[in-house]
Amino acid sequence: MKFTGSQRLSALILLAFFCPICLWAGGVNADKSIERKLFIDALMSKMTLDEKLGQLNLLAWDGSLQTGAAANSGVSEKVKNGLVGGLFNIESKSTRMEIQKLAVEQSRLGIPIIFAQDVIHGHRTVFPIPLALSCSWDTELIERTARAAATEAASDGIDWVFSPMVDVSRDPRWGRVAEGAGEDPYLGSLIAKAMVKGYQGEDMAQPGAVMACVKHFALYGAGESGRDYNTVDMSEIKMFQDYLPPYRAAVDAGVGSVMTAFNDINGVPATSNKWLIDDVLRKDWGFDGFIATDYTAIREMGAHGIGDLETCSALALDAGIDMDMVSEGFVNTLKNSLEKGTVSMDEIDQACRRVLEAKYQLGLFDDPFLRLKDNIAEEGQNEEFMNLALEAARKSAVLLKNESSVLPLTKGQKIAVVGPLADSKKATMGTWVLNGDTSQVITVLEGLRKRTAVSYVKGARLTDDEALAKLIGYPMDEQSSEELIEEAIEVATFADVVVAVLGESAVMNGEAASLADINLQASQKELLQKLVETGKPVVLVLLTGRPLTLEWEDANCAAILQCWSAGSQTGNAVADILYGDFNPSGKLTMSFPRKVGQVPVYYSMKTTGRPFWEGVKYTSRYLDVPNTPLYPFGFGLSYTSFDVSDIQLDKNAFAENDTLTATINLTNTGEMAGEETVQLYLRDLEASVTRPRKELKHFQKVFLKPGETKTVRFKITVDDLMFYNSELEYQAEAGEFRVEIGLNSESTKTAIFEFVD
Ligand code: BGC
Repeated sequence: MKFTGSQRLSALILLAFFCPICLWAGGVNADKSIERKLFIDALMSKMTLDEKLGQLNLLAWDGSLQTGAAANSGVSEKVKNGLVGGLFNIESKSTRMEIQKLAVEQSRLGIPIIFAQDVIHGHRTVFPIPLALSCSWDTELIERTARAAATEAASDGIDWVFSPMVDVSRDPRWGRVAEGAGEDPYLGSLIAKAMVKGYQGEDMAQPGAVMACVKHFALYGAGESGRDYNTVDMSEIKMFQDYLPPYRAAVDAGVGSVMTAFNDINGVPATSNKWLIDDVLRKDWGFDGFIATDYTAIREMGAHGIGDLETCSALALDAGIDMDMVSEGFVNTLKNSLEKGTVSMDEIDQACRRVLEAKYQLGLFDDPFLRLKDNIAEEGQNEEFMNLALEAARKSAVLLKNESSVLPLTKGQKIAVVGPLADSKKATMGTWVLNGDTSQVITVLEGLRKRTAVSYVKGARLTDDEALAKLIGYPMDEQSSEELIEEAIEVATFADVVVAVLGESAVMNGEAASLADINLQASQKELLQKLVETGKPVVLVLLTGRPLTLEWEDANCAAILQCWSAGSQTGNAVADILYGDFNPSGKLTMSFPRKVGQVPVYYSMKTTGRPFWEGVKYTSRYLDVPNTPLYPFGFGLSYTSFDVSDIQLDKNAFAENDTLTATINLTNTGEMAGEETVQLYLRDLEASVTRPRKELKHFQKVFLKPGETKTVRFKITVDDLMFYNSELEYQAEAGEFRVEIGLNSESTKTAIFEFVD
């Protein structure tokens, strides 16, 4: 008998064939999980060992982006033979359709393929890169972008997205900070949750929903020296306190799958880390979805020095991995390991069951072509999503400087636009846009041109560094840097304001794009210096995927707008902001160091036993640079100004079942309506272990008209005071706490309260 997998009906017929009582259970009992179990039991009883191993095999499409040591080939043949469970990064829907037909019509049991894709910040409509989106501090907006991405991906035949990436990172040298939500576990957790909800909705089988995959479990963002894929060695307190919460939040939000990380953790690769996968993720957190490796991560355990492919595959399965991405270690070696007794049939069955359960939850057994049909996307959706992309790009931009109110620009001013990124669609879209619709992308130049006639020249090469240019595939300009700069000075001379659009191309951040020097490229810096020398006010618009070191720029440019790679609507958003039609409200989610030597520099560092003390030598400090970042976490200017009143506490002490309310009044003291993000931080002043100098615990976004005042109240509960002690117990300890409320992490109002047993 052949399992077609095409209809619920046929699934139930299959059930009836093997187990009539199951049909009764499936038809009468509304409990979906029982029905699912019976269905999968029946299916698995029909599967050979090879077919089971096939379900654990997650392959990259022939010729797709190769990000690891190996690629796959002969994929169609393997699909026909039932040796593939999932496929990712296939370019077109028609190919997905062909493959699904092969799987369903030509493989022995007709088990559908699960199609995955790196949908990281939008699919066709490109939203700001995740780091940018996080600067909106708007989880509802972020959820909507994930939902839109899911809708577009699902109508393109994609079932499963390799997102959200929730790796906390405090190292801007690491290119992949572009893909995450920055340095803070609390904000990162809220965003993780929002994205999972956005992708999966209430029911993954519903139209427009896909399965999310939280990655990279775990601690991928903490690699030594910011070098991609590098080793992680970290205390358990720090892991649980600072790095694991966002993964946990995704699990609590019901994420369907988890991807493990490339790195090792305290000596054990994440991909074979039984403690991490089995004890923490499965047992402690109760995760019951399936777990895939990252690209060739099992094979790479060989390079980690763990053993050959067979050994590593057995270790990974034993640790709890269900799907092997690209390595083909499971499909090719687990049979041997089974014979030798290094893995058990139960382990293989369990992994296979989890993959089949995911397919079931996605509705693929009801209809393998569910997401492959025509016209799932609704009419008018493109416009709706473009409006969303505009809203997201506007809210992600962070105004870092605005001297003498050079911004907003006024109508009638003559504008010169310069910079190698001003008209670059790729830099505008950013990293990981496999299916982004380039034709819909508005560059900064295009956005400004819709407003006014501007003169434009490129002004500089992206980089003068030939080795770097070769690595990132940048074709060196024929014009020399001197010629390009000369042209720029000429247009600047005739302008009232210069808008310099500088930063990073899309491949200068993201995966395998670590940098030891996070200054602007010398070619661009030189351009900027020459522009500043003209005496014209220079507005620096930065398109980057990471914080750069901007001391010189901060001292010399009239204004700086950190726009990031903000997606399809970047140009319109920048024009809206520069001309004051949108008042910037973004707040940094990563600290910007003054010098790269400060890294890691983050707001929640500890004080040490010798906190910095001005004028005292033997305190924790640098001789050549302040300890503080140039722009702190939570920082971002507005065109208006806000005043935060002193903090009022409703009591000075509270106990476990009680709450404490901290209140401030926020007043818009400027002349433009605007939105602020009021942030609340806590410091535990008496604890059994050393604690961060402050931790974000709450925030509220508040919109105020000029002159308006609103009262902002935060409720503090015992949950906000909890932390991991040296026994790794999560608890709150009695003692004194400091509450800080402000508009960024460094400039705050403070008050003291006590927590009593
Ligand atoms: C990346 C993952 C990505 C995977 C599949 C890997 O190189 O680390 O984030 O999902 O490739 O493309």
